[in-house]
Amino acid sequence: MGWIVRFLPDIEIQQPLTGEEPLSAEAVLSKLWDQGTNGIGELSSGHIVAGFGSEQEAETAAEFLRTQPVRDVVCQPVDDQDWHDQDNVSDVVVPTATGQVSFSVKAGASFGHGDHETTRLILDAMDEQLSKGHTVLDLGTGSGVLAIAAMMIGAGSTVAIDLDPDAVAIAVNNADRNDVAVDCRHTPVDELIDEFRGRFDLVVANVLMVAHQEVASAVVKLLGPEGRVITSGYLPGQASKVVGAYEPLEVANSLKLGPWVGHVLTKRN
Ligand SMILES: C[S@@+](CC[C@H](N)C(=O)[O-])C[C@H]1O[C@@H](n2cnc3c(N)ncnc32)[C@H](O)[C@@H]1O
Repeated sequence: MGWIVRFLPDIEIQQPLTGEEPLSAEAVLSKLWDQGTNGIGELSSGHIVAGFGSEQEAETAAEFLRTQPVRDVVCQPVDDQDWHDQDNVSDVVVPTATGQVSFSVKAGASFGHGDHETTRLILDAMDEQLSKGHTVLDLGTGSGVLAIAAMMIGAGSTVAIDLDPDAVAIAVNNADRNDVAVDCRHTPVDELIDEFRGRFDLVVANVLMVAHQEVASAVVKLLGPEGRVITSGYLPGQASKVVGAYEPLEVANSLKLGPWVGHVLTKRN
């Protein structure tokens, strides 16, 4: 897994937050190369994306960028070192009780090529937890891979949300390319509560520990009477904090793939 820092150059901001002289756009990019980026690309939205081998390198670059005349600095993991190749198509195969479903995604600079262990962990557990016609929420959809899998397995409807507007646009394209209807939104999970309280049969969430801690109480409110959550995206040492955040849900099943873990969480009987 690599890390990317995404930002929007902003020519209107003349002064950096530190009060020091801002660098020119060229000098900013040159500094990112000095900081060890392994590639810099531009998205159709105008955002610049720089890739790094580790979270620490990416955080250092993000800290630097926050002192420069740029906006929307976001640091996040990406599961394909070839993220800058916007034409990279990944085939995704999901096992089901009766065989498999398959589809393809173009993840670009979003997370979700389908083969990262945190994604696979949910894909491999999904068929067992999903009944035909279920209402699904994919929280942190990235490329839309889990939402598309849910619809292909037989969900009745799926809402897919992401904090990253570029990811939402990519998820919309991927749903279209596979001819499935996914309600993709750039909406914080709390803002779904009025519309969807108690309505989701299944929530899938492959996000970092901190994000689980932020979204868990809203997710619990969104779950239907028999609702369940499949979590992923954290390490064994972080599991008790993630599971604790979803209180009063309880662990029905523990999942593990490579260094990563996840859980199937259900309401107490
Ligand atoms: C690790 S990726 C998972 C992508 C895809 N679901 C998969 O399993 O491959 C996590 C995604 O969650 C998004 N994200 C992180 N925190 C979030 C939050 N609080 N609400 C919505 N999306 C969030 C990130 O922008 C990123 O696209």
